[in-house]
Amino acid sequence: MKKLAILSLVVVLGACSKAPNAEQPDGEENYALNCAGCHNPGPGHPATMLLEQLGRPVPALIGRKDLELDYLRSVVRQGLIEMPPFRSTELSDEQIEDIYKYIKSAEPPKQAPALAPE
Ligand code: HEC
Repeated sequence: MKKLAILSLVVVLGACSKAPNAEQPDGEENYALNCAGCHNPGPGHPATMLLEQLGRPVPALIGRKDLELDYLRSVVRQGLIEMPPFRSTELSDEQIEDIYKYIKSAEPPKQAPALAPE
């Protein structure tokens, strides 16, 4: 009986996913899972606040057009000051590239400053 319940849960969960291979999150999902918590626009996102302080044209990562893949890859692999590195068991090279493509292709957010005006 328990087995049946687990099995039907698996079936239900499988049916909920929009992608045919749900165990392979795409660039957008991996961005949301791994990066958005720090890099989304608006207050409360440490990376956005720091990058705004550094004067980046678009402080949130999403929608930034000036990023190079090599730079993004090395930041993700090695970390950067406050940003933790990601190992290849956490994100593969291909997943990083998908995240990069998603960041580049997305519309930049309507600018809501992350920092309070001085
Ligand atoms: C725990 C918070 C955190 C997470 C999670 C995080 N970052 Fe960052 N990231 C930062 C911070 C903070 C900075 C600003 C660098 C610094 O510390 O001065 C940064 C900087 C960057 C930069 C450099 C931007 C520039 O203009 O120089 C890139 C690229 C970047 N992150 C990509 C990513 C990607 C892609 C992910 C997801 C795979 C990610 N980050 C996840 C905190 C984070």
